[in-house]
Amino acid sequence: MNNPNLENKKNIKWHNSSISRQNLESLRGHNGMVIWFTGLSGSGKSTLANALNEALHAKKISTYLLDGDNIRHGLCKDLGFSDKDREENIRRIGEVANLFMNAGIVTITAFVSPFKSDREKVRKIIGKDFIEVFCAANLDICETRDTKGLYKKARLGEIKDFTGISSPYEIPNDPEIIVETGSLDINSSVRQIMKYLSEKDLLNLDN
Ligand code: ADX
Repeated sequence: MNNPNLENKKNIKWHNSSISRQNLESLRGHNGMVIWFTGLSGSGKSTLANALNEALHAKKISTYLLDGDNIRHGLCKDLGFSDKDREENIRRIGEVANLFMNAGIVTITAFVSPFKSDREKVRKIIGKDFIEVFCAANLDICETRDTKGLYKKARLGEIKDFTGISSPYEIPNDPEIIVETGSLDINSSVRQIMKYLSEKDLLNLDN
């Protein structure tokens, strides 16, 4: 192993908790899962993830929201926007989301997560309870909105490796849900996701 800090890894053993994921899920009355939003900056991920979080919370579902800009203030504050750093960012979030899911929580994440391979690695970690939601607003719309003024800076070369301008965004091939966030209003977008969760019997949202 190259990293001497990892030499002790062989002395680390996995311990199963005596309280299982099923125990925690039955306490909460629903399954844990990961609802993974992906899309360009300004495509509406955070807004929609927040609105979904509120709507599910109102239905007494245990939720937790992991949001890109916030996580980069703490857990991932050592990371920038190179391909390698984004890969590590998404890897960490995937692992954290897995922990939340195993606690029986409906875990909502909002990260650009521009690379297919990184999202697929998370899908592998999470397994069948991974729901990928593509916020499909296209670059023109996101750039026109430019809610944070970042596209302007990126065009001026003041921000490098900016997704959609100087760094790629790889559109998901087969996401569970595509939300047309360029044209659909927020309430309809939330309803579309809630309908999916109900129809697939992932959550009981009747009451
Ligand atoms: S990711 O690519 O690693 O998934 P993440 O979602 O954590 O990105 O962070 C993206 C947010 O950081 C954007 O919404 C934007 O506000 C900000 N940001 C700052 N610099 C960049 C950049 N070079 N590319 C994309 N987003 C950036």
